[in-house]
Amino acid sequence: MKLRDSGMPDEAYWETLFDVPLVLARLGIDSSLGDVVELGCGYGTFSIPIARAITGKLTTFDIETAMIDRTTERAAELPNGKIICQLRDVMEHGFGIAGVDAALVFNLLHCDEPERLLHYAADAVRPGGQVLVIHWRYGETPRGPSLDIRPRPEQVIAWAHETGRLQTDGGPIDLPPWHYGVRFRVQSASTDH
Ligand SMILES: C[S@@+](CC[C@H](N)C(=O)[O-])C[C@H]1O[C@@H](n2cnc3c(N)ncnc32)[C@H](O)[C@@H]1O
Repeated sequence: MKLRDSGMPDEAYWETLFDVPLVLARLGIDSSLGDVVELGCGYGTFSIPIARAITGKLTTFDIETAMIDRTTERAAELPNGKIICQLRDVMEHGFGIAGVDAALVFNLLHCDEPERLLHYAADAVRPGGQVLVIHWRYGETPRGPSLDIRPRPEQVIAWAHETGRLQTDGGPIDLPPWHYGVRFRVQSASTDH
């Protein structure tokens, strides 16, 4: 099922809304990471720079064929096998992958079942690895889900702790102009969800 309020404006506009190098630097997405998985590649806004920054490969999923096609097209500039783009409903089937260094949930935790999504992300990651979240700041922003479903950092942290699998690794991270991020460490193996 497509996550609520997860449609995209046009690509050129979307990509004015982030300082992508700053997001990567502040979240520690760099050559210290091997394989990584991402939920919702969208236009590949983060996928392409992340695949370049890490030493392993990026596996990225989207429920929209157009998004997979666009990210695949952009991935042509990278070495073969650096990005695997697959059509997949992650909310329905989970990530279907395990043991990666990090799972990325960017601009999606306003979904109906955020805890379940965070469990799926934790399942994909090796113990000691990371789940990295970014989301729109709570308040006036040029895009983003309506405030009644938009989580504040404290809410994201509470959901993550409720999984019993994720521990905050530092506090909320400012990602100007419009976002914040939170890093979580994965504690242990899978539980029921
Ligand atoms: C708001 S966009 C964010 C894209 C990207 N993470 C970014 O920040 O640029 C959300 C993306 O998630 C995808 N999506 C929504 N529901 C999904 C699901 N159940 N499984 C996989 N992808 C999904 C949408 O098609 C869309 O491309």
